[in-house]
Amino acid sequence: MTVLVTGGTGYIGSHAIVELQNAGHQVLALDNLCNSSRESLLRVEQITGKPVPFVQGDIRDASLLSRVFRDYSITAVMHFAGLKAVGESVVRPLEYYDVNVNGTLMLAKAMNEAGVFNLVFSSSATVYGSPESMPINEQCAVGGTTNPYGTSKLMVEKMLQDVAASDERWSIALLRYFNPVGAHESGLIGEDPSGVPNNLLPYVTQVAVGQRERLSVFGGDYPTEDGTGVRDYIHVVDLAVGHLRAIEYIAARKGVSIFNLGTGRGYSVLEIVAAFERVTGRKVPYAIMPRRAGDIAECWSDPARAKQELGWVARRSLEQMLADAWRWQSQNPNGFQR
Ligand code: NAD
Ligand code: WQD
Repeated sequence: MTVLVTGGTGYIGSHAIVELQNAGHQVLALDNLCNSSRESLLRVEQITGKPVPFVQGDIRDASLLSRVFRDYSITAVMHFAGLKAVGESVVRPLEYYDVNVNGTLMLAKAMNEAGVFNLVFSSSATVYGSPESMPINEQCAVGGTTNPYGTSKLMVEKMLQDVAASDERWSIALLRYFNPVGAHESGLIGEDPSGVPNNLLPYVTQVAVGQRERLSVFGGDYPTEDGTGVRDYIHVVDLAVGHLRAIEYIAARKGVSIFNLGTGRGYSVLEIVAAFERVTGRKVPYAIMPRRAGDIAECWSDPARAKQELGWVARRSLEQMLADAWRWQSQNPNGFQR
């Protein structure tokens, strides 16, 4: 297969390219570098020993997309490009709808014109809103999203379902990720957030490396075992392997397939802090603070469908996620130094 990877220089996209190349597929990375660095692909090349062709550009640029589909024999698309900061989406909703919804619309139109109908889309467990019971399976209701980011993912899911219903040539996987963390075991690629991290793990590693004083634990009074929020953290390499399975799966069937990608097990914030200290030997000072607006108490997946249909399970342990996140952070204290 020749796979166009939008958002290919980003955190998850770069890990997906490693798995695609290791499995013998051809790739073309497309990214406008608004939240990533070209350096990530040079690191991917070090890992895989293969060149990664790259086009710098925006998914909303119709003429660029048609050039890409004309010049390369793309057979499938993994679509990671998008904006992902929940808080920022509340302040800049137009940008989020433009990039995430309009950007995917432009991509789907270009695919349609080029006769490329296989698409794997980065969705999120956020589409489930505030579910009433755990674990969450794919039949659980979606909706009730609490911010424009989450709503943009839901809108794209619905749009792609309508597109597939209108034309049976489409074959689409909607992958609902739980909480991706960790880094490639080489320590060469990983998550490189710009500014203050929004997500727990990059914040923890930046505290441990001495860049930030202490972690604010958002809420100590949730109805969970220790009062802090519980999430299903999944190693980014397991997630990348899930994408590989999904793109191979949709090559053999039509319509829309929806999969949760998670481990099926939740950990609290304090469990993460304790495990991180144990694995790395570093202290993570923290303070319990008020809850963060829009957060839910707990969220973990039922990953049974992905196991059954894709033959995929998340194999890497919490300890491995934390050790790999730490290796990346400590070897690259300033990330890719964009
Ligand atoms: P990331 O920011 O590292 O990667 C996204 C990439 O898209 C970046 O390299 C960015 O430069 C690029 N991009 C943004 N707008 C673009 C545009 N208009 N044209 C071209 N490129 C553009 O984020 P990530 O964590 O790798 O996330 C990848 C995808 O997975 C996103 O769609 C995100 O919403 C989704 N997702 C992420 C998480 C998570 O916690 N990381 C969870 C669920 C879903
Ligand atoms: C995890 C836990 C926080 C930071 C978000 C998006 C979701 C998906 C993944 C894209 C929660 C707590 C966090 C901190 C903390 N992204 N926390 N101190 O909120 O589960 O999911 O990222 O699709 O859509 O909403 O992830 O890493 O921000 O938080 O105490 O400094 O850590 O309250 O319980 P979240 P997270």
